[in-house]
Amino acid sequence: MKIRAVKGMNDILPEEARKFQRVERVFRETVECYGFRELRTPLVEDLSLFHKSTGETSEVVQKQMFLLDRSDERLALRPEGTPSAARVYIGNKMQAREPVTKWFYIGPMFRAERPQRGRYRQFYQAGCELYGDPGPICDAEMIDMLYRMTQKLAIPGCQVLINTLGGAEARLAYRTRLVEFFEPNKSALSEHARARLLDNPLRILDSKDPRDQEACAGAPMLLDCLTPQDAEHFSMVQAALRDLGTPFVVDPRLVRGLDYYTRTCFEIVSTGGEIGSQSALLGGGRYDGMLEGLGGEPTPAIGFAMGLERILLAMGSANTQEEPPLCFIAPLGSSTFGACLKVASRLRESGVWVELDARGNSLKSMLRRANNMGARVALVMGDAELEGGTIQVKNLTGHDSTTVSQQDAPLHVLALLHRKDQTSEAIS
Ligand code: HAM
Repeated sequence: MKIRAVKGMNDILPEEARKFQRVERVFRETVECYGFRELRTPLVEDLSLFHKSTGETSEVVQKQMFLLDRSDERLALRPEGTPSAARVYIGNKMQAREPVTKWFYIGPMFRAERPQRGRYRQFYQAGCELYGDPGPICDAEMIDMLYRMTQKLAIPGCQVLINTLGGAEARLAYRTRLVEFFEPNKSALSEHARARLLDNPLRILDSKDPRDQEACAGAPMLLDCLTPQDAEHFSMVQAALRDLGTPFVVDPRLVRGLDYYTRTCFEIVSTGGEIGSQSALLGGGRYDGMLEGLGGEPTPAIGFAMGLERILLAMGSANTQEEPPLCFIAPLGSSTFGACLKVASRLRESGVWVELDARGNSLKSMLRRANNMGARVALVMGDAELEGGTIQVKNLTGHDSTTVSQQDAPLHVLALLHRKDQTSEAIS
């Protein structure tokens, strides 16, 4: 039987991995400038953590958990990073240590979904969580930070959508109004939406089913149920975004798929690239009730996560990553291995990528391999060079070659690779 990768779980080969690295680098650089520091948590958590935080009525918990089959424990692969970070925050009594905590994380998440383009069962998220600031300025700063990041990555066609889900009071009032609105006409709803009417009627608003979308026309707006404090919070977020010059659209139908959100929520969607229908590149919002619900102190919190695969799809061909220049070393016979190893070490100490081919192949085949690998320089050493303490330096882009002392070889290689800045390090 042929062993295959699990459905919806992708291997990331080196060329693709470099694209991930670039996005991760831009993410790190951006969020570190805003004071976020890295948190690493296990991939596996107690299942109850997700029931208590992600939420019993969320699709993720109801249908998409990867459970680990152990007789004595109920464990699950994490479907998102927010619950783990909240657990760490509470367990380490972060509130007593610092008034505001800002963490970021990068790593794989697992959701048993039906795989399609931009939707996988293992996918990578880069996210941030901020605790201890009730906003609204930090809400706007976070949204602005994300918009700037999409600009830095040159993602085409990005749009920032924001909404408010109100606090607990507004949500309760809105829930009642929604149920009153849908109830008389509930036979027009999809089966899925009818079930939602009982547990989480807000989710009917972001149903993709055309029947539900039609039934939603004229539905009451959450914006009409906000308390004055919720409304002020939301208008301050918008004012701050205007001050920051961040373009945004208020989307009253944006409700997000996880149960824990309160007040500000947001998504950045892309209409360009190869992303197709899975257009949400990232999403997040405020979740002021989660930490208390997990047994912590009442703590305001806000965060987001972006899907790295979706970012790469949206970037399309804009994300071409040039490989650093490579120097290829071709020893002609085992007697030259020792001297070639020494040259290779000195080059690597100067930060040059070096491929030493000691498989005993012919010069012709080694040079073909060097060209195929995109090497710019090849160093060739035979017995004559070994005896003379020299090495041939072949410029594979200019197709000229010269013989230099082994001692000076790094200097010449660096000059050819246009890395004159490191020349002095190489010689020392
Ligand atoms: P989410 O909206 O479930 O939020 O996921 C955030 C992002 O992860 C999505 O916008 C998408 O880019 C990516 N994503 C989600 N599911 C998949 C999938 N199956 N395949 C590929 N990419 C996917 C959260 O996860 C929250 N924890 C965000 C948050 C942090 N809220 C507050 N703090």
